Amino acid sequence: MKINGKPYRTIWPIGDAKVGVIDQTKLPHRFETLELASMQDAAHAIKAMIVRGAPLIGATAAYGVALAMRADASDEALDRAHDVLAETRPTAINLHWALKRMCGVLRNRPREERAALAWAEAARIADEDVEVCRAIGEHGLKILREVAAKKNGATLNVLTHCNAGWLACVDWGTALAPIYMAHDEGLPIHVWVDETRPRNQGASLTAFELGSHGVKHTIVADNAGGHYMQAGQVDLCIVGTDRVTANGDVANKIGTYLKALAAKDNGVPFYVALPSSTIDWTLSSGRDIPIEERSADELLKMTGRLPDGGLATVEIAAPGSPGANPGFDVTPARLVTGFITERGTCAATGEGLRSLFPENR
Ligand code: MRU
Repeated sequence: MKINGKPYRTIWPIGDAKVGVIDQTKLPHRFETLELASMQDAAHAIKAMIVRGAPLIGATAAYGVALAMRADASDEALDRAHDVLAETRPTAINLHWALKRMCGVLRNRPREERAALAWAEAARIADEDVEVCRAIGEHGLKILREVAAKKNGATLNVLTHCNAGWLACVDWGTALAPIYMAHDEGLPIHVWVDETRPRNQGASLTAFELGSHGVKHTIVADNAGGHYMQAGQVDLCIVGTDRVTANGDVANKIGTYLKALAAKDNGVPFYVALPSSTIDWTLSSGRDIPIEERSADELLKMTGRLPDGGLATVEIAAPGSPGANPGFDVTPARLVTGFITERGTCAATGEGLRSLFPENR
């Protein structure tokens, strides 16, 4: 996607020993890029949410392994890179998917080949993510066209939560890919953007993305979605996910579950867009997904731009009150209308997933 007319991905190789990323902690106020020069830099970028979003976490971990192999291509260094990167964030399964794939390619290969092999495989993971998200966009676009066809030219209103756009992936996004494609082909579309407390990925990242691409959107408080659904102002919801279990349960940014409940109560279709790297075939229920517990500071403080352009963090809660901050929740499969994947759409059930990915039967 483009920023100020210049095409960007969220992660890119710089020569064959560094990796560039967009510093997402500075958006939407500042657009800054950073260079990752070591496996530790990659681990820090994931942990500090300089990069975030399940597919991008996976791609960054892959480059993290590649950076480790540049420094030391021993078995011990490979194991260490795997373990350090695997510890960075607990919920997005793409992290483990990417690490497994990198280790599979590198283990049992001569040391002198590993650095080049790792670099090439990380680049392949990033390139594939772009193509997978493009395919998700094309399949999701069919759904948007169908809903739009019933509206006689009136604007299609889509609600999304958190950021499952190109900033969460390498390009295009998952939930937002169909929206970009609909906009590009001239479908009248408007997006309700949940602000997504406490880190506000909706207000800061999704709104930034949509605005940069010229897609009409409105930021709403997380609590407002149910109201707009009751008022008939949401035609469908599309969200991304950090992990889908083999029975179709969906872990996504905290607050997704409440939106799915409201959608069910109001008969609003609720779709989840995902690459197959987000499916955890080893878990049979969302109850087993590890939920990241994040610092209460994200809840009790807020960072924003001052009139002079500087950034400042302020306390917003009663001094001394504790806070709890689970990063994700689990939406049971029964509340999900369907999955949009790179191989097409399916029912949000284990059977539905296996019909698209029969190799996991
Ligand atoms: O904590 P984050 O910002 O990494 O979480 C990302 C999300 O939960 C996204 O909403 C998402 O749907 C998964 S990434 C496409």
